[in-house]
Amino acid sequence: MEIINMAQLNETQIIQAAQILTDSIPIGWPTLQDALDEINRLLIPENTMLAAVEKDIVLGWGGILPGYNGNVFEIHPLAVRGDRRKQGIGRAIIAALEDEARKQGGMTIYLGADDERGNGETSFANVDLYDDLPEKIKSFSPGTHQSGFYLKLGYKIIGVMPDANGIGKPDIYFGKSLRKL
Ligand SMILES: CC(C)(COP(=O)(O)OP(=O)(O)OC[C@H]1O[C@@H](n2cnc3c(N)ncnc32)[C@H](O)[C@@H]1OP(=O)(O)O)[C@@H](O)C(=O)NCCC(=O)NCCS
Repeated sequence: MEIINMAQLNETQIIQAAQILTDSIPIGWPTLQDALDEINRLLIPENTMLAAVEKDIVLGWGGILPGYNGNVFEIHPLAVRGDRRKQGIGRAIIAALEDEARKQGGMTIYLGADDERGNGETSFANVDLYDDLPEKIKSFSPGTHQSGFYLKLGYKIIGVMPDANGIGKPDIYFGKSLRKL
C-alpha cells in the first residue's frame, strides 16, 4: 500500500474514493454524486488530499484544510473502505496528513467528529454539555463511535459544539499538537 496525493488519481480511482465516502458517511454524503461533488470541491491547491492505494485500488483517503493563517489544519474528511478497516490504513493516512500539515508549518491539527448516529454513541450524547464540561471531558467514553480511533492516535478533546446535529447530538473537536512530535 502507498499513500499518494489525490491530484494524481485517475477518474476510476476518484469514483472509488467517492464510493468509500458515501458508503462510510452516508449521513454526510447520501449519494455517490454528493461524494463526487465533495471531492471536486476539496481538490484545490490550498488543501492536501491523500489516498491509500494498493494495486491501483483506493482503500481510503483523507484531507487537510488550512485555517488560522496556516497555523491550524482541519482533517476533513477521513474514510477507509468498510472491508479494509482495522488494518492500520486509517492510522497511516492520518500519519501522512500530520506530516504534511507539519511540513506546511501547521502547529495544530484537529477535526470535528459528529456524534449524530442513532440515539448517540458517546458519553457526550443527550447530556447537558454546559454543565461541568471539564468533568465530562475527563470521563469521556467513545462507545462505538469513531472517537475511539482518534483517542488511540493521541488526539485529545479540545472542544465541543452542543446540539450541532440536532438536540443532544454534538460535534466533538479532537486536536493534536504538531509541535511536540
Ligand atoms: C475511523 C476509520 C477511518 C478508522 O480507520 P481504520 O483503518 O479502521 O483504522 P486503523 O486500523 O488504522 O486503526 C488504528 C487504531 O484505532 C483502532 N480503531 C479503529 N477504529 C476504531 C473505532 N471505531 N473505535 C475504537 N478504536 C478504533 C484500531 O483498533 C487501531 O488500534 P490498535 O493500533 O490498538 O490496533 C474507519 O473506521 C472509517 O472509515 N469509519 C467510517 C468513517 C468515519 O467515521 N470517519 C471519521 C469521521 S470523523
